[in-house]
Amino acid sequence: MERLKLVFLCALLAVARRGAFVDAVIVDGLQVGFYSRTCPEAENVVRDVVNSEAAMDRSIPPGLIRLFFHDCFITGCDASILLDESPAGDVPEKESSANGFTLIGLNTIDTAKSTLESMCPRQVSCADILAFAARDAAVAAGLPTYDVAAGRRDGVRSNMDDLPGNFPVPGHHVPRLTELFAQRGLSQEDLVALSGAHSIGGAHCFMFANRIYGFSPGTGADVDPSMDPDLAARLRQACPRPTPNDDPERARKGKLDNSYYTELLARRGLLTSDNALVEDPQTRAVVEAFARDDALWQRKFAEAMQKVGALDVILGEGRGQVRTQCRLVNRQGPQQQPQQGPQSQRPQPMFPWLPHHRFPQRRPRRPFPRHPLADMINGFFRGFH
Ligand code: HEM
Repeated sequence: MERLKLVFLCALLAVARRGAFVDAVIVDGLQVGFYSRTCPEAENVVRDVVNSEAAMDRSIPPGLIRLFFHDCFITGCDASILLDESPAGDVPEKESSANGFTLIGLNTIDTAKSTLESMCPRQVSCADILAFAARDAAVAAGLPTYDVAAGRRDGVRSNMDDLPGNFPVPGHHVPRLTELFAQRGLSQEDLVALSGAHSIGGAHCFMFANRIYGFSPGTGADVDPSMDPDLAARLRQACPRPTPNDDPERARKGKLDNSYYTELLARRGLLTSDNALVEDPQTRAVVEAFARDDALWQRKFAEAMQKVGALDVILGEGRGQVRTQCRLVNRQGPQQQPQQGPQSQRPQPMFPWLPHHRFPQRRPRRPFPRHPLADMINGFFRGFH
């Protein structure tokens, strides 16, 4: 009888495991089920928070996936994108124009974090919460689940100067995108697979305005001729005067699937960087393969997300920290020496086709730590972010 029970249990486990169709990438200390002893409900809590918020607001899944990518691509998966301020007094990453001035999902991470802090204080890092949340967001949007190895610790610095020159922007073409991804150990196939995240969510008008207004003044072409004319007409109607506040394309699409690639082949890509993938012969072949085979794309996307999740992670006690609030570095406790980010370069204009003065100006460096009263007031306003 006991043996029968054991066989039954093993069969159950095998079925449960089949849900996670991609084997986890195990990198040094990162491991699947990292919190099974210290906070067994960690992954369930994050999943429940993401699911309930996604059910109320369909912009949450795309927002979380993007947040995760933006965090990991710059200085690794250290939750630096979540910080409101950096102990060194730098203007934090989240204020960079490369984030398009909108990061969605920050409150979802806060909710998951405060729930987990009440259940298992100082155990679950913000970087891991973000990695779980991005996976759960993808699943909420229709992707089969995949394992997320955990054990990341949170960083203690965040500097918007780390982005210019190191981060892809919508005006980039394949050679530059490939170069930037390669610098992070990601292949051209990863680039194409991950870009499939653009099958959900949307973009502000100013992100693609270069393709629908004044495209090539030299030739007189106002609209990018490689864009489907019907789409161009619709976009021009939706974006009569692009400003950083317009976002008619936001949350237009809700299902994460290979429609991104079929749309690209139908000349309905939105950004220059999207369209570039179909114009370049090397990446076009991958676009075509993913357009033909949704299951192939799903697998490659999940694998690439696992690779992204392993970028420059901070591992081990005594390095980094487990923040108690994702927006703030802990004042006490083991702290990591500030890490060196990628070589900062002189900031370049992110959107050369727009007059620069339209963008918010960099705020001056702030001293840190500040007066406790100022912290209290900031904490109050933070609740409204
Ligand atoms: C290849 C280079 C990439 C470029 C140039 C790029 C650029 C952009 C831009 C300009 C937007 C619109 C932002 C806005 O107007 O608010 C956007 C949205 C988005 N990006 Fe990317 N992206 C790239 C790669 C990725 C990758 C690798 C992922 C994730 C794995 C990703 C996920 C998303 C998602 C989900 C959205 C929709 C966000 C929302 O609706 O809130 N992107 N991206």
